[in-house]
This record gives sequence, C-alpha cells and structure tokens, in this order.
Amino acid sequence: MKKWFWFFALAAFLWTGTAITEEKKSFTADRHKDRGLSCAVCHKEDQPTTAASGESCLPCHTSLEAVAGRTKDFAVNPHQNHLVDSSDISCTDCHQGHKADKVACDSCHSGFKFERQKAESE
Ligand code: HEC
Ligand code: HEC
Ligand code: HEC
Ligand code: HEC
Repeated sequence: MKKWFWFFALAAFLWTGTAITEEKKSFTADRHKDRGLSCAVCHKEDQPTTAASGESCLPCHTSLEAVAGRTKDFAVNPHQNHLVDSSDISCTDCHQGHKADKVACDSCHSGFKFERQKAESE
C-alpha cells in the first residue's frame, strides 16, 4: 500500500515538473531548438559564449518588413509602429533569445497586447 502511495506521489511531482519546464520552453531559442535548429543558426558558432546579433535572424526571417507582414493582423503591430519605424531597433532588442520577449513600448504606453485579433466570426 505504502509503495503505491509513493509511486503516485512521485508521478504527480514529475508531472508538475514537466508542466513547469514546458512553460520555460517558450523562449525564442528553445522554440528554434524544438524545430531541430542548432545554436549556430543564431550564434554562428556551435559553442556560443557571446550574444547573437539581430543580423543573424535575417537569412531565415528576411527583414523587418517581412515579419511586419506576418503580424499585420495583430491589434498593435510590434514590427510596424512609430518606434520601430523611427529607430535602428534590432530583432534581438525585443526577442531576447533565452528570456521572455521585451517590447520597448511600456515606458510610454501600457496595456498593448501583441496578439492576433480574433476573427469576427469567433
Ligand atoms: C533564435 C536564435 C538563438 C538560438 C537558436 C540560440 N540563441 Fe543563444 N542567444 C540568442 C540571443 C538573441 C542572445 C542575446 C540575448 C540578449 O541580448 O540578452 C543569446 C545569448 C546567448 C548567450 C549569452 C551570451 C551573453 O551575452 O552572456 C549564450 C551563452 C547563448 N546564447 C548560448 C546558446 C546555446 C548554447 C544555444 C543552443 C542550445 C543557443 N544559444 C541558441 C539567440 C539564440
Ligand atoms: C536557420 C533559420 C532561422 C534563423 C537563423 C532564425 N530563425 Fe526564427 N524561426 C525559424 C523557423 C523555421 C521558425 C518556425 C517557422 C516560422 O514561424 O517561421 C522560426 C520561428 C521564429 C519565431 C516564432 C516562434 C514561435 O514558435 O512562434 C520567432 C519569434 C523567431 N523565429 C525569431 C527569431 C529571431 C529573433 C532570430 C535571430 C536571433 C531567429 N528567429 C533566427 C528559423 C530561423
Ligand atoms: C519592438 C519589438 C520587436 C522587434 C524589434 C522585433 N520583434 Fe518580432 N515580435 C515582437 C512581438 C511582441 C511579437 C509577438 C509575440 C511573439 O510571438 O513573441 C513578435 C513576433 C515575431 C514572430 C512571430 C510572428 C508570428 O507569425 O506569430 C517572428 C517570426 C518575429 N517576431 C521575428 C522578428 C524578426 C526576425 C525581427 C527583426 C527583423 C523582429 N521580430 C523584430 C516584437 C518585436
Ligand atoms: C518614448 C515614448 C514612446 C515609446 C517608447 C513608444 N511610444 Fe507609441 N506613442 C508615443 C506618443 C507620445 C504617441 C502619440 C500620443 C498618443 O497618441 O498617445 C504615441 C502613439 C502611438 C500609437 C498611436 C499612433 C497613431 O496611429 O495615432 C501607437 C499604435 C503606438 N504609439 C505604438 C507604439 C508601440 C507598438 C511602441 C513599442 C514598439 C511604442 N508606441 C513606443 C510615445 C511612445
């Protein structure tokens, strides 16, 4: 009886553990790794020690204009707005690789949600 209790206690613990790891996984670099891409696609080296540059994104993601096209249905387009249009902002200023995205709007605005708007019918 006791053995089974510990088995289920352990199973429950491991399950919670997985849920937490899954949440952490949503950083940009992990999402690339999950798609079979290496560290080197962003870092230009297999054992990186320094930060990746925004330039490294372009061979695959083309340009800021191209990603702005992908997010044109967002309530506020993170890739096309007065800040991005008027500065030399880089992909990695917002997409931090191994941390949550940081969007430099909050110092002046609040409450922007960078998500796709739901279709009218939904
Ligand atoms: C999608 C692109 C991407 C991938 C893939 C990626 N990284 Fe990064 N990595 C970044 C970016 C962007 C930064 C810089 C973050 C910043 O500026 O704060 C960074 C920073 C780092 C740093 C810290 C450098 C410093 O400034 O201290 C290390 C170490 C690192 N990455 C290792 C790795 C390893 C190991 C892998 C593979 C398992 C990997 N990265 C995969 C984008 C990526
Ligand atoms: C070797 C090609 C390659 C490089 C280099 C690359 N990516 Fe990606 N990225 C992909 C692929 C493939 C996907 C998944 C399909 C898609 O959404 O385009 C993706 C998806 C993404 C997504 C959406 C993630 C998701 O799961 O919703 C973001 C954000 C992103 N990349 C940012 C970056 C940034 C920032 C850099 C540079 C630091 C970068 N990528 C470099 C290939 C690349
Ligand atoms: C001002 C901040 C900012 C800059 C600069 C920026 N992004 Fe984004 N990007 C975002 C936010 C916010 C989202 C939406 C949330 C998310 O998916 O991370 C996003 C989403 C994306 C996506 C997913 C789009 C989709 O179809 O869902 C890709 C790919 C991407 N960015 C790539 C890039 C690349 C490549 C660059 C540089 C050319 C770049 N971003 C520059 C903030 C930024
Ligand atoms: C340094 C302060 C500052 C920053 C940072 C900033 N904004 Fe603004 N933004 C303003 C001001 C000032 C206005 C004009 C007054 C208003 O309409 O609130 C404005 C207006 C806007 C508008 C309305 C423009 C229109 O069409 O009338 C949008 C959308 C917007 N900002 C998006 C963004 C986004 C997205 C970011 C981050 C990527 C950002 N802003 C960063 C100060 C800022």
